[in-house]
Amino acid sequence: MTSPTNQVYPIVWQDDRVMLVDQTQLPNKYAVVEIKCCEDMATAITTMIVRGAPAIGVAAAYGMYLGARDIETEDSETFFQELEKVAQLLRQTRPTAVNLFWAIARILKAASETIGSVAEIKEALLETAKAIQLEDLQTCHAIGDRGLEALPANPDKLCLLTYCNAGALATAGYGTALGVVRSTWRAGRLARVYACETRPRLQGAKLTSWECVQEGIPVTLITDNMAAHCMNRGLIDAVVVGADRIAANGDTANKIGTYSVALVAKAHKIPFFVAAPLSTIDFELATGMEIPIEERHPSEIYQVGETVICPPGVEFYNPAFDVTPAELIAGIITEKGVVPPDSLHKLQF
Ligand code: MRU
Repeated sequence: MTSPTNQVYPIVWQDDRVMLVDQTQLPNKYAVVEIKCCEDMATAITTMIVRGAPAIGVAAAYGMYLGARDIETEDSETFFQELEKVAQLLRQTRPTAVNLFWAIARILKAASETIGSVAEIKEALLETAKAIQLEDLQTCHAIGDRGLEALPANPDKLCLLTYCNAGALATAGYGTALGVVRSTWRAGRLARVYACETRPRLQGAKLTSWECVQEGIPVTLITDNMAAHCMNRGLIDAVVVGADRIAANGDTANKIGTYSVALVAKAHKIPFFVAAPLSTIDFELATGMEIPIEERHPSEIYQVGETVICPPGVEFYNPAFDVTPAELIAGIITEKGVVPPDSLHKLQF
C-alpha cells in the first residue's frame, strides 16, 4: 500500500482484517495478502511475507488481536488461557527479532490490565495493536531525524551504505536505517545510497533498492563482497544498518553479513551506525552471545530462483543473523537520541 508520495505502508488494518504487502514477491509483483486469523499471521511471519523486526512486531500485535477475536467464550479465565495459546503460536514464528516478543508482551499486558468483559478486552487489544503501529511510524521519523544529526558534517552531500532492508517495508513505515537515508535525502544532504544485495534472500536488492526507486532516492546496488572495495575507493562516508535485537552491552544482531560490513568499515575508519527503536533493545541479555540466531532452510543457499547452484552431497549452514560487537559501532540511533553502544542504559525506560 503506497501513499500519494509513494511512501510504503506494509501493514494496513482494514475492514476487520490485516492487509500485508507480500514482500516475497517484490520487486516483480506488488501484491497484497489478506490476513483474517492468527494462524495466517503466523504463517505470513514465518514465510517472510512480512519481515523486518519492527514490522513483525506490529504484525504479531494484530495477530494477537485476530486470535483474541476468534476466542468464543465470555469467561475471562478461559479467554486468558486461550490467549496464551495464541501468544505461543506467534512466539514460535521467528526467534531473533525481539520486537515480536515485545509486542506480544505488550498485548498481553493490555489484556490483563483491562477491567471489563471479554468483549471489552478484545476491543482494548485492537486499540493497543493500532497504537503499536502508529508509535512505530512516529518512532521511525524520529530515528530518521536524529540519525541525520549524527552523520558526519563533511562532505556536504553524503554517500551512505546500508545492508538488508531496514526500510518502510520492515517497519510501520519510513524505516529505521532507511529512515535515516530518507531524512538525509529530504534535507538535501544525500548524494547516494549504496545498497548491499544481502545474500541469501536478497532483501537489499529486492526491497531496499525498490523502496529507493519508489521515492527517487539515488541508489546503487552492489553485491555484498563489493562493500570493502567501495570503502577502499572512498565511495562511502558512513554506514547505517538496522537491528533485530540489541543486547544491554550494545552488541547488535542484524541480517547475516552485517558483521563483515562493520569490520571493513572499522578498517577504513568509516563510522558504522545502528538505527533501531527502543523496542529492539533487550536489556535482559547481557551480551550478543545470548541472542538466539534463527537458522533457515538450506534452499535459501542452494537455490537462486528455481536454479540449484551446487552439486548434490554438499552440506549447508544458514544462519539468518549475525552479531556485530559493540566496539565496531559508532552510535546507536534511537527515537530518544544517538548514544554510544556502551551507554544504552542511559535510555532505559
Ligand atoms: O530476515 P529479515 O528480512 O526479517 O531481516 C531483517 C533485518 O535484518 C533488518 O535489518 C532488521 O530487522 C531491522 S528492520 C528495521
